[in-house]
Amino acid sequence: MSIPTHTLNDGHTLPAIGFGTYPLKADEAVSTIVSAIENGYRLLDTAVNYGNEQEVGAAVRACGLPREELLVASKIPGRHHGYDDAIASVHGSLERLGLDYIDLHLVHWPNPRVGRYAEAWRALVDLQKEGLVRSIGVSNFTEAHLDRIIDESGVAPAVNQIELHPYFPQVDMRAVNTERGIQAESWSPLGKRQAPFGEPAVAAAAEAHGVTPGQVILRWQVQLGSIPIPKSATPERQRANLDVFGFELDDAEMAAITALGRADGRLFNGDPDTHEEM
Ligand SMILES: NC(=O)c1ccc[n+]([C@@H]2O[C@H](COP(=O)([O-])OP(=O)(O)OC[C@H]3O[C@@H](n4cnc5c(N)ncnc54)[C@H](OP(=O)(O)O)[C@@H]3O)[C@@H](O)[C@H]2O)c1
Repeated sequence: MSIPTHTLNDGHTLPAIGFGTYPLKADEAVSTIVSAIENGYRLLDTAVNYGNEQEVGAAVRACGLPREELLVASKIPGRHHGYDDAIASVHGSLERLGLDYIDLHLVHWPNPRVGRYAEAWRALVDLQKEGLVRSIGVSNFTEAHLDRIIDESGVAPAVNQIELHPYFPQVDMRAVNTERGIQAESWSPLGKRQAPFGEPAVAAAAEAHGVTPGQVILRWQVQLGSIPIPKSATPERQRANLDVFGFELDDAEMAAITALGRADGRLFNGDPDTHEEM
């Protein structure tokens, strides 16, 4: 199955869907990630705070594909936001992954009360110049956070990974990213614990296209232009979640799913202005 790609503002490309690795750990993580790669995923999403970079690196080596066919993304945690700490953090990630470059590295959360995310961003800008990270980006950044780092560094992130699912469709943040040439990625793309599989808008589209509710939601993500990174430990679901390029939702189906957005739709840890990921 061939997966379409998005070209980023730095010229690199990402597949239109990736694989989330949280909270996979230990041997189960390695076998699950190898299974995901065998099922066709090429973009693997990890983070220092997931405690599984070693497992992701082991899976990259175990899967039998050349390194350059895979894209590994990791993230700098809040406790590493000082410039030197951020540089050391990425070196630590490279070591744990056992790789000599990382394809995409993000500032995991802005942690505005700490107030040092612009330093972490400057570190990523410098690491990219050294070639240790191919693409650089952020996660959970609001418009104000984005504009501050762009103003201070002159460099726009290639990616902003944000919470995005039918109950929290991020209409405004998707526009903010697009206006700045930033590719959106969707975390918890299925909605995690509160997946809207039973919603009539989702169920009707699943019925109409002969697919599962999960496939409808991931197709909605793809058509929004955001890159979903679903996690599944189940090989059948891994395959199904990737098999979303053979049908198309029409405008009414897209709008009905986006209309599931609600004021309390955000997951408990999703507010970038208050949540701190240290
Ligand atoms: N940047 C951030 O701050 C941030 C925050 C949260 C997450 N993330 C990233 O985003 C990734 C995905 O988010 P997530 O794991 O929170 O949520 P998710 O991918 O929306 O949901 C994962 C859950 O859905 C189940 N599932 C997967 N496919 C399914 C299907 N087709 N039908 C029914 N259930 C299905 C999985 O169970 P099984 O495993 O049993 O299939 C798992 O319990 C994470 O792994 C992580 O890499 C980033």
